[in-house]
Amino acid sequence: MKQDMIVILDLGSHENTVLARAIRALGVYSEIYPHDITVDQLKALPNVKGVIINGGPNNVIDGVAIDVNHEIYSAGIPVMAAGHEKALCDVKLPQFDNDEQAIKDAVKGFIFDTCKAEANWNMTNFVNDQIELVRRQVGDKKVLLALSGGVDSSVVAALLLKAIGDNLVCVHVNHGLMRKGESEDVIEVFRNQLNANLIYVDATERFLGKLAGVADPEQKRKIIGSEFIRVFEEEARKLNGIEFLGQGTIYPDIVESGTKTAKMVKSHHNVGGLPEDLQFSLVEPLKQLFKDEVRACGLELGLPYNMVYRQPFPGPGLGVRCLGAITRDRLEAVRESDAILREEFRNAGLDKKVWQYFTIVPDFKSVGVRDNARSFEYPVIIRAVNTVDAMTATIEHVDWAILDRITARILAEVKNVNRVCFDMSPKPNATIEWE
Ligand code: XMP
Repeated sequence: MKQDMIVILDLGSHENTVLARAIRALGVYSEIYPHDITVDQLKALPNVKGVIINGGPNNVIDGVAIDVNHEIYSAGIPVMAAGHEKALCDVKLPQFDNDEQAIKDAVKGFIFDTCKAEANWNMTNFVNDQIELVRRQVGDKKVLLALSGGVDSSVVAALLLKAIGDNLVCVHVNHGLMRKGESEDVIEVFRNQLNANLIYVDATERFLGKLAGVADPEQKRKIIGSEFIRVFEEEARKLNGIEFLGQGTIYPDIVESGTKTAKMVKSHHNVGGLPEDLQFSLVEPLKQLFKDEVRACGLELGLPYNMVYRQPFPGPGLGVRCLGAITRDRLEAVRESDAILREEFRNAGLDKKVWQYFTIVPDFKSVGVRDNARSFEYPVIIRAVNTVDAMTATIEHVDWAILDRITARILAEVKNVNRVCFDMSPKPNATIEWE
């Protein structure tokens, strides 16, 4: 392993990920760990050059102040305290205040001068390290990969192809919640262009059957996630020597599924919902990367720009955009309106500018007029957001003329829809998806 590491201890600051990213941007690898990590656990991590204790407004939980293990201060690794940590420390540590430039200077001074960390975190080293780790973990066994065709799974596929070649078996499951034309694209790129081993499974009826009548978003995610695993297990049983499951889990999936100090936002299917009888070991080479780093990794691996900069698509697919209990009429309305939105964004050049854009169909109707009669049909909501790492997001200020055109097309071409709305909400307080 080549890269030095700065460990951030999480005392409940919302800025942990910002700090980790800032340190990585300086060329030094950084990871976030729970505040109560022991000295032994800390020392077991590779190449730790320094520790930053990052406090924040959450560092009182249920009325009790949380603190790090004080033995860490004398573990022989340089330690720095940041944020609101002052009140908790009884040991004199380097501090920095909340001025942004001062923070940057202090962190820089700490990691390079005090810790003597080397700026050796880059994608070439990362890819080479991961290839080595994957080969070490997997040996000559086979890895089954859930290839949805989104950025994360595509980059994992490219990385695993490089690491283990034909021992990678990609399975594309069409869960019936894919965007229009998407499964066809996956087959074209991976089977025809990249020559990957690719098995295509159309499981639409199976998924929609399991999801029938299920309205709770967490429940929907769990069903989709566990059904996914079951399909893979069935595919694996048909093959010989499959022991591993590749997954495109990335850092925000892990952080947002809840840490000791951060409340769970939502369970992402690739972390929660795995069945207890799971028979695979997981291979998750991207699990420490932020989204923009995943894209850089894809380019490093030689994937085409279009694929790497494709907008992200959630594992549960259109299932979390067809709100509440999924029905086929609303699912088709989501799929068709999404296809129109994507086509119009492409025509307007917005596909290169906007990070994620899609439509949502809620499970209620509103009154409208169709053919001179009172109609009672579904609304379509348009969402278009920009973000760097999906942890926060702002909305794209789409031109009225473009929205007018999209609205006219959706109302004319999509069945069961009589109203189009635009979601103005940033994250937070909203999340990017509606469920
Ligand atoms: P939220 O809605 O949490 O979304 O602001 C942040 C990013 O994550 C995607 N997302 C998911 N991805 N499984 C995934 O693989 C999920 O269950 C899931 N939920 C949200 C979302 O599309 C956005 O890019």
